[in-house]
Amino acid sequence: MGWRIGEPIMDTCRVIFVSLSLVILVLSTRVPGTAQDRPLRIYADERGFLIGTAVAMTPFRSESIYNETLKNEFNILVAENAFKWDSVRPSRDTFNFADTDALVDFAEANHMKIRGHTLVWHSQIPSWLSGGNFTRDEVISILREHILTIVGRYRGRVWAWDVVNEAVNDSSGALRTSSFWFQTIGPDYIKLAFEYARDGDPDARLYYNDYSIEDLGAKSTGVYNLMSSLKSQGAPIDGVGWQMHQINGFRTDPAHKTNAKRIAGLGLEISITEMDVRMSLPSAPDDLNQQSIAYRDAINFCLTTPNCTALLTWGFTDKHSWIPGFFAGWGDALIFDSSYQPKPAYFALRDALIQGADSAPAISGAQRDRKKLLINGGGFLEGAEFFINGEKQKKVFNSLESPSVTLVAKKSGKKVRTGDILLVKNPDGLFSNEFVYSH
Ligand code: XIL
Repeated sequence: MGWRIGEPIMDTCRVIFVSLSLVILVLSTRVPGTAQDRPLRIYADERGFLIGTAVAMTPFRSESIYNETLKNEFNILVAENAFKWDSVRPSRDTFNFADTDALVDFAEANHMKIRGHTLVWHSQIPSWLSGGNFTRDEVISILREHILTIVGRYRGRVWAWDVVNEAVNDSSGALRTSSFWFQTIGPDYIKLAFEYARDGDPDARLYYNDYSIEDLGAKSTGVYNLMSSLKSQGAPIDGVGWQMHQINGFRTDPAHKTNAKRIAGLGLEISITEMDVRMSLPSAPDDLNQQSIAYRDAINFCLTTPNCTALLTWGFTDKHSWIPGFFAGWGDALIFDSSYQPKPAYFALRDALIQGADSAPAISGAQRDRKKLLINGGGFLEGAEFFINGEKQKKVFNSLESPSVTLVAKKSGKKVRTGDILLVKNPDGLFSNEFVYSH
């Protein structure tokens, strides 16, 4: 048995190499949910993004883990109920600021921004008001006093107000005529509310907030028209809140982009204000994974949409969510489970905040090749979706020679024409630029 010079050296090298590799492996592997992970708000702060949640008073007053999670993870909060009329205004002559003061103080102590929700809504109106038989002028004066008092009290401290909530009818997109405010004041209540809010705080962002207005449809078009008319009348409005109460299976699509863009065209920003993704209970094994994709899509959408400023969820733990009480048989809609353990949706938000828009696909050109269309660009992931004028094309695959640079669309019904808008969505939820096809 021979002994060869160099062997021990090779062994030592191997040991060093293996040890170094292990160190590198350990350093580069992020194990979800371990102590080395940093919370959402740290990554959000690095990007100048706002990630937030709604706060319910009962756990806020009684569960320390609730407040710990709240202040560690989020850089903006919104009161789930505390600013609503039935909570803040027990009678015509009294305001109750115990809860709102506590929340605003907590937010400031923890360097969090605040969304104020909400100054005008058809729901959660106290009976002294709805049953008070007030005249139109009296209701206007009560509304004015209400808004000036509350917005004035927190002047300079509330980042954005949901001035008017849910004023538009679900199916027609016209104003919700059954609302107490519409019935007593008429359609002018909306503009008045924004003017009073602006008088109360010249610097707060003033939002119109609603549900089921995220994509394109009668309701979102109704909201768009309302915003457009308010703007043309000079109403002081800054943004539109997309509540984003979704059902599991939700994905973003080009309609969301188009809608955000037309709102931007009015000079308005958007925020995702009340996101949750409910599932029917008991959930199936893949449901949490599906839910994480919905959250990932939403945050990637917001991160890559220039006028999208914030994403807030409507609560953060499944232990305290409005869903089971309002949608019987549904739940598990949030990003922490009922034991405050982060769910896949939490990690999806965090990964998106870490990666941001860096890996968005890009289209630089497209040309016809007989019955195929070659879409050139970069960053195309396997399974990327391809849209012509918002319509998803069925037969699309990455080219065998250059999979991340060229997508191949086989003619599937529609023929591309000059002026058509091409768009790619990667399976990580990121959209490309909109490319105008020219022949
Ligand atoms: C819900 C709260 O979560 C519940 O606690 C309350 O009982 C009813 O209102 N859209 C909104 C929110 O704008 O104010 C609603 O909040 C959920 C739907």
